[in-house]
Amino acid sequence: MTDGRGAELALNQALWAVMNERFTDAAADDMWARDEVAWGLFAVPERVLGVLGEVDGLDVVELACGTAYFSAWLARAGARTVAVDLSHEQLVTAQRLQRRVGPSFPLVQADAEQLPLTGGCYDLVVSEHGAAAWCDPERWLPEAARLLRPAGRLVFLTNSHLSAMCVPAEDGVAGEQLLRGQREAYELAWPGGGVEFHPSHGDWVRLLRAAGFVVEAMHEIYAPPDADDHAFYEIVSQRWATRWPAEELWVASLPRAD
Ligand SMILES: C[S@@+](CC[C@H](N)C(=O)[O-])C[C@H]1O[C@@H](n2cnc3c(N)ncnc32)[C@H](O)[C@@H]1O
Repeated sequence: MTDGRGAELALNQALWAVMNERFTDAAADDMWARDEVAWGLFAVPERVLGVLGEVDGLDVVELACGTAYFSAWLARAGARTVAVDLSHEQLVTAQRLQRRVGPSFPLVQADAEQLPLTGGCYDLVVSEHGAAAWCDPERWLPEAARLLRPAGRLVFLTNSHLSAMCVPAEDGVAGEQLLRGQREAYELAWPGGGVEFHPSHGDWVRLLRAAGFVVEAMHEIYAPPDADDHAFYEIVSQRWATRWPAEELWVASLPRAD
């Protein structure tokens, strides 16, 4: 890598080694043990959103999988999953959970902007608070498109653009004021380390189309009224997220081959 992106990746890798220590195995255990697919900070069930459809028999790649609980849920539903993450520490936890809870599937340590996977071999690329926030969209979206078969789908969840403008730079959850401009949120270097990407909706549509995708839907995810604050990720409170969407779930697909 010849530009400053290499240094940003190193920063993010160091940050996720620390986060891995804080997100204990107990928390990862809970996530792995869940018996249904759910999305995001407030665990909105897939059966409510219905974005994935039937995954049984699909070839799936999860990008920036963290401890890989999302891949575990899809594997249990019959998908052939490959889970990719940059962080050795996160994948070690995933491996431990594979042994303790199961099932097992391939774990690959790699940068989602430059994947050592064969192109055109997957039906679905997913990412839950992964590549969309942590990778440069001009790099990871073309990689996702390369991996997919014709008519393959990309489904990713990320922080809402609004929350990215309202979260304080230092500690604390999103408040009710915009703390930065819309264009400043595109790439954010946090004082505590870590570089994130939060493109606006217009940017996402442009970037997805440039990578060859057709945008099918963008679901704005609010917290259910009876949900609790998230125990680990202090981004938004449950109360905030019942008024404004905390997360965005994007669904895009490649055209069919003709
Ligand atoms: C919020 S976590 C993972 C999401 C997962 N669903 C979870 O909550 O555990 C974000 C992950 O992105 C990974 N990551 C950051 N930059 C990456 C990159 N360039 N390529 C692949 N993974 C990356 C980090 O190592 C971290 O495990």
